[in-house]
Amino acid sequence: MSHTEEHKVIADRLSRISESETIAMAKLGRALKAEGKDIISLSFGEPDFFTPNHIKQAAIDAINTNQTFYTPVAGILEIREAIKVKFKRDNNLDYNIDQIVVSTGAKNSIMNAVLALVNNGDEVLIPKPFWVSYADMVHLANGTCVYIDADVDSDYKITPVQLEAAITPKTKLFMFSSPNNPSGSVYSHDELKAFADIFERYPNIYIISDEIYEHINFVGKHTSIATFGSLINRTITVNGVSKAFAMTGWRIGYIGTTKEIAFACDKLQSQFTSGTNSIAQHAAIAAILGDLTPTSDMVKAFHKRRDLCLSILKEIKGLKLNNPDGAFYLFPDVSSFFGKSYNGKTIHNSQDLCMYFLNEVYVVTVAGSAFGNDNCIRFSYATSEENLTIAMNRIKKALEQLQ
Ligand SMILES: Cc1ncc(COP(=O)(O)O)c(C=O)c1O
Repeated sequence: MSHTEEHKVIADRLSRISESETIAMAKLGRALKAEGKDIISLSFGEPDFFTPNHIKQAAIDAINTNQTFYTPVAGILEIREAIKVKFKRDNNLDYNIDQIVVSTGAKNSIMNAVLALVNNGDEVLIPKPFWVSYADMVHLANGTCVYIDADVDSDYKITPVQLEAAITPKTKLFMFSSPNNPSGSVYSHDELKAFADIFERYPNIYIISDEIYEHINFVGKHTSIATFGSLINRTITVNGVSKAFAMTGWRIGYIGTTKEIAFACDKLQSQFTSGTNSIAQHAAIAAILGDLTPTSDMVKAFHKRRDLCLSILKEIKGLKLNNPDGAFYLFPDVSSFFGKSYNGKTIHNSQDLCMYFLNEVYVVTVAGSAFGNDNCIRFSYATSEENLTIAMNRIKKALEQLQ
């Protein structure tokens, strides 16, 4: 071992993960904006709406009544009671208070669950494309990611046959999101039932079902995989208030799971965070139990924007699109543009195209490679219709001028 290796400052586990690419692209966009460029960002992973007033008021009330102390690590009783009601009301899932853990965003909830379940070398099945953080979370836990490919032709959804083929004796966990980030795809009741039927035959596999986009769903129907057969005994149902209530900065996520897994997550966060923010927990109760009208208004706006973007993108020859039923992203396959050039520069992959959009037409996007599919680019439509119209037309122009 060399002298420098002996004195490395940063621990090896950090080399197993990378900075979130969505955050890195947002940074690049901000830097160009600061130079005065007319940048439109389609890289956001958050609603561009304000948190509804009744939720903000609950936080103000919590401050004024001095709800400012450490809370129980798994969350105050009232929020866990509210989540219990929500799981029954929206998902037909029966989770007791001791099966619910509230954390610092769904990201923290998922990380807890991965750390609680994955041992060195355990295999974790992840359908591609996937949310950026899944793979790095598994790597942090020393697990092995086993990817299952899906592309635009299957609406970015995997089939039961593919799922079963990926299972080995080392498979510990299956991790997915529906509605999906980045593809917007939503697995139907029957599609999830087919997965569940397979898992009934593999009782040692656990499931992280990331349902953070549950409410942002244009087909109106959401199914939780834990409702099927015996899966409630092996599923970690993840949800939170970030997306549905425009509360990304409040950092509240939660899980419903078995008592054993909930206890493990509680134990982990007792050492990491001591539980999450007390005031945000009070605000989240108002969100979960309160009026859902602001959420449905927001969903209507997203639906309209999706259609607006699709109507422009569909005019572009060579772009392959799915019809996303949820979340607020588009994930077109742009591979037919690879090999084309502009001003002597050739586009080889999704990152090149992303940089081309940024530098030529000032639109910030995220390369599909960040989500495990280098043929695609992710556009977030969490911005105004006016911005979207300009951005989509700029992208159209940029693609059409490639030769
Ligand atoms: C699929 C998915 N899961 C989880 C999260 C994390 O949400 P939170 O803000 O609650 O940590 C995100 C946020 O972008 C997401 O896209």
